[in-house]
Amino acid sequence: MIRALSLILMLSISVSVAKERPEVKGTMQQMFTSLLNLQPFLVSPEKFRSPKNRAIIQKDLNQLANLKHAFPNSMKNEEPGIYAISRMFHGYLEDTRDRFKAGDYDYARHRMRTVTAFCFSCHSRIPSEKNFQDLQKRVESSQLSPFEKADVFAATRQFDKALKAYTDILSSSPTDGLGIVEFTRSLRRALSITVRVKQDPKETLALIDSISQRKELPEFVHRMADQWKKDAQHWLEDGDAKKKMSPEELIQKAQKLIERASSLQTFPADENGDISYLRASNYLHAALDDNPGSKLRVEALYLLGVAYSALQDPTVWDLDRLYFESCIREAPQTDLAKKCYRRYSDKIYMGYTGSAGTFIPEDEVKRLEELRKLAEGKKAKE
Ligand code: HEC
Repeated sequence: MIRALSLILMLSISVSVAKERPEVKGTMQQMFTSLLNLQPFLVSPEKFRSPKNRAIIQKDLNQLANLKHAFPNSMKNEEPGIYAISRMFHGYLEDTRDRFKAGDYDYARHRMRTVTAFCFSCHSRIPSEKNFQDLQKRVESSQLSPFEKADVFAATRQFDKALKAYTDILSSSPTDGLGIVEFTRSLRRALSITVRVKQDPKETLALIDSISQRKELPEFVHRMADQWKKDAQHWLEDGDAKKKMSPEELIQKAQKLIERASSLQTFPADENGDISYLRASNYLHAALDDNPGSKLRVEALYLLGVAYSALQDPTVWDLDRLYFESCIREAPQTDLAKKCYRRYSDKIYMGYTGSAGTFIPEDEVKRLEELRKLAEGKKAKE
């Protein structure tokens, strides 16, 4: 009796520890520190390549690349989104560290400037009301540009500050090509915050409205905003959105949203379905967070792959592949695995096709073949 009780106690403790993950918090605070330490060097190509800064930069790059252990392999069986992103993230950091060491300073600098997209995509998987408190206000006092500041706020879970920083950028009108790139990125990131982190259809609609009213903005921004407005309106009127849903209901809901989103798109990278795709990705992560062992888990992996393919964030553009790959490995020889394989191989062929034809590197070809066999169930030749 006592043994049974202590077993129950032990189980409930290990479950809550798994969710709280104090070791993750500690690692994250170190990441924040290293990222901020690097910022003064990142703003200038000269400082970044100067021999006198080499040792100090290398130290923080090593530190970041070594923080791997915070996400143990066993997390694969929990919410797979964290695992997928952390796998890519660490590959990315290790590569950056090694290339810096080898003297590829421009490459390493560029990689570090875009690393914040990983931080953001991991933190915004599921809604959050908590904002990280940076008591020393290190981001505000840094020399970053307004756009870079906004990104660092978003990357470090200071979501309210990030949203304010992005909307400040949106309040001025872009004047040149670079300005328009930052403007559209700020708009999409602000939307990711109102849709995924805040899950607030009213705030989303208000943000889009403020853009549609601006006559001076380029036509393509208006076209996007008009379509997003309809989608946000649909969300506002969606009774399901307020219900508490079980993991299975969440996955089914995501499936409907993805059908809707893909019907809004006229070509694969079309942004028209973004709001529904963002909402769907949220529901899928939440479902897998609540019940990683759901009977619809593999379906959720497939749908996450579809959603991330459509959302096309340039830094984490490979994320969809990881979901398709997990789907094949977790449920070989099923119809879903075949569907995932088809998506996976389409992406590879598209990625390696240029004006001169299709050239797929040898290791990719091998992996494709391995996954095909897993999906279709044909034994590998001995
Ligand atoms: C693989 C997923 C993942 C990646 C990538 C990631 N984080 Fe985190 N981060 C987490 C998790 C999980 C938490 C824990 C809190 C939560 O989810 O509510 C967290 C929390 C944080 C916090 C808050 C800590 C606290 O004390 O509350 C900061 C700051 C942070 N991360 C910074 C970063 C930075 C900077 C990067 C990128 C250089 C980054 N993170 C990349 C998953 C990730």
